Amino acid sequence: MRRFVIVGQTATASDAFLLDDLAGTSGRLDVLVRCVRAALLYSHGVRRDVIVYLVLLGGPRAPRALRFDGRAAKFLRPDERSLATLVKKTLAREDLGSGFVEGRHGVAIASGGVDVLLADCEGATVYAMEEGAPDIRDAELDADAVYFIGDHIGLAPVPGAQSLSVGPVSLHSEDVVAIVSNEIDRRLPASK
Ligand SMILES: C[S@@+](CC[C@H](N)C(=O)[O-])C[C@H]1O[C@@H](n2cnc3c(N)ncnc32)[C@H](O)[C@@H]1O
Repeated sequence: MRRFVIVGQTATASDAFLLDDLAGTSGRLDVLVRCVRAALLYSHGVRRDVIVYLVLLGGPRAPRALRFDGRAAKFLRPDERSLATLVKKTLAREDLGSGFVEGRHGVAIASGGVDVLLADCEGATVYAMEEGAPDIRDAELDADAVYFIGDHIGLAPVPGAQSLSVGPVSLHSEDVVAIVSNEIDRRLPASK
């Protein structure tokens, strides 16, 4: 499985945000939601070989993590509002124990941050996507790697990760997801 981790340093871990003003009321959860679309959805389809994790470090319930699993994803629509609605419903859950708790349509939630998802990804190669790092085009990629990407603020150091860049310009997070996906698509066949 190809895995993306988007770390939201201010993105709210609570459901107390307005769908009508997602960017203004959620600590920029909008950035993360767009990454979910870029990672999981292609034109008229869902990538079944992709998992996306959102790490939510903002607001009173932080830290929490969400997991979107392409193998189980259903009824995902590409517009930001419908993805934000799914996130809001999932964040309303309070019955969390240890590890991920499965919700509807392939979306799971856990209490905890990067630690909880790294337990989920044990043994995988971990990459941190960073401006100025060695070019992804010169790297050997494997199908089961984990790619960490920052939000509008940036990405804090990821222990044990190799740094990679997607070129000389600092891009929006969802564009980095799209470029990494494209690099992998060109080199590694998708598992159906
Ligand atoms: C909008 S950028 C962060 C900008 C932030 N102001 C900073 O200086 O770090 C969002 C994230 O996308 C990733 N990113 C952006 N441009 C990149 C590039 N050229 N190569 C690799 N990753 C990149 C990084 O993970 C970054 O944290």
